[in-house]
Amino acid sequence: MEKKEDKLKEVISHAKEYGFVFPSSEIYDGLTATYDYGQLGAELKNNIKNYWWTSMVQMHEEIVGLDAAIFMHPKTWKASGHVDAFNDPLIDNKDSKKRYRADVLVEEHIEKYREKIKKDVAKGKKKFGDDFDEAQFLATNPNVKRNQSKIDELEGQLSKILESDDLEGLKAMIDDLGIACPLSGSKNWTEVRQFNLMFATELGSLAGDAAKIYLRPETAQGIFVNFLNVQKTGRMKVPFGIAQIGKAFRNEIVARQFIFRMREFEQMEMQYFVRPGEELKWYEYWKEKRTKWHKALGLGEDYYRHHDHLKLAHYANAAADIEFDFPMGFKELEGIHSRTDFDLRKHEEFSGKKMQFFDPELNKNYIPYVIETSVGLDRMFLAVLSASLKNEVLEDGSERVVLSIPPALAPYKVAVMPLTKKDGLPDKAREIIDGLKFDFNCQYDEKDSIGKRYRRQDAIGTPYHVTVDHQTLEDNTVTIRDRDTMQQERVSVQDLHRIIDEKVSMRKLLEFIEKH
Ligand code: GAP
Repeated sequence: MEKKEDKLKEVISHAKEYGFVFPSSEIYDGLTATYDYGQLGAELKNNIKNYWWTSMVQMHEEIVGLDAAIFMHPKTWKASGHVDAFNDPLIDNKDSKKRYRADVLVEEHIEKYREKIKKDVAKGKKKFGDDFDEAQFLATNPNVKRNQSKIDELEGQLSKILESDDLEGLKAMIDDLGIACPLSGSKNWTEVRQFNLMFATELGSLAGDAAKIYLRPETAQGIFVNFLNVQKTGRMKVPFGIAQIGKAFRNEIVARQFIFRMREFEQMEMQYFVRPGEELKWYEYWKEKRTKWHKALGLGEDYYRHHDHLKLAHYANAAADIEFDFPMGFKELEGIHSRTDFDLRKHEEFSGKKMQFFDPELNKNYIPYVIETSVGLDRMFLAVLSASLKNEVLEDGSERVVLSIPPALAPYKVAVMPLTKKDGLPDKAREIIDGLKFDFNCQYDEKDSIGKRYRRQDAIGTPYHVTVDHQTLEDNTVTIRDRDTMQQERVSVQDLHRIIDEKVSMRKLLEFIEKH
């Protein structure tokens, strides 16, 4: 089986080779944790957005969209708690001048004990072969038990320290464990400090502190501050939702793993406003609905799992992550949070404006409770790309690279190719594209042998490949090749629209979410 690290490398290089993702400003050697989406990446990203927006807004009469500005009044971030509490604990190594997240240094140290356990398990497997009982080995092997109890002890200590914001305790832990800078090898550390993750910039017309504004670290606050604008102008009644897709910025210190953790990224967030007391019912509803949205893509059920938060943020009364099995292992893809009335109440307090809804059925005013669904667009992109990229060995022993992207998300829906560049075949291919391009993104491809063209389309995930040959000129039929089965069929040009539509339409995905 392919190693996970190799898989991530393969995804990064495929993404670059075919124009999905480029390092940002690459001609200047790039900018860390910042990426540009290329010609195919932009298409895939738009299709993911479209899938999310359609399923949220078009499919729910009680959910409407919003497109709020990235800049917001600075008080927004005081009210939301981001100015005071959106921090990471940081430590600098005085010799290498490199900055680290102090908790991550400790976590990486703990990880070494996990690696030791893995090595012992691998040795056990090798020694005992088919007779190896992993569960029993983990429970009884003295080395494993010693390492596991060290992990438990250190994890317990770290979580207590983080819960109580004990920066001195964190520094002491780094010293006690003898953690050295991976770059310089030295243990010459500064104290641990809190570092706010928001990017700040200045408004042109003001001086000093008054000029300081932030690039939003989440899109959600744009929804909260517009809650009454939308409710009143849209004549919305609780329960209702506001959906938004947009950029968010975080000065992540440990930014790595390709587009998984970036400093500039995109979120697709929906805030669902409900009656106080009904929030947990809606929380369960959205957790299930969002899970179906992911599973409808057909990447495979095994890619997903839920992680219910045991330790909740002070404003939440329930929270879960939908995790995805990325090339780096299971990690958060989407968060579902029951945020109580925290945000609206805080905005009411800081702005002095009422953030309440008059419920005609209950005949009373209240601040609604909020269920939030928040998924990273870039993480969705990585999930789709990494689960779809496959190296297949074919029956004749040859190999192909195929990107089995869910057809509704594929950058191109169909490639139309003249068998040769002469005899009027290119004109016929273009005529076919002219009939399809109103509904589908089509690619015209006449370069190289037909076999090479098929491989190229497989590699960029085009679900259908149509070949125009001499018979086409006689009877208006073409061959259509299916990316996944590689089967070819001769069909009439008139039928192309229907055949393609059946496969690439988003309808099937949306029906799956509705029905199951
Ligand atoms: N409004 C709630 C919120 O922002 P979050 O868990 O901090 O919650 C939500 O972020 C989602 O945004 C995550 O599940 C992840 O998909 C995405 N995300 C967060 N930070 C990211 C980063 N640095 N790079 C890429 N995606 C990120």
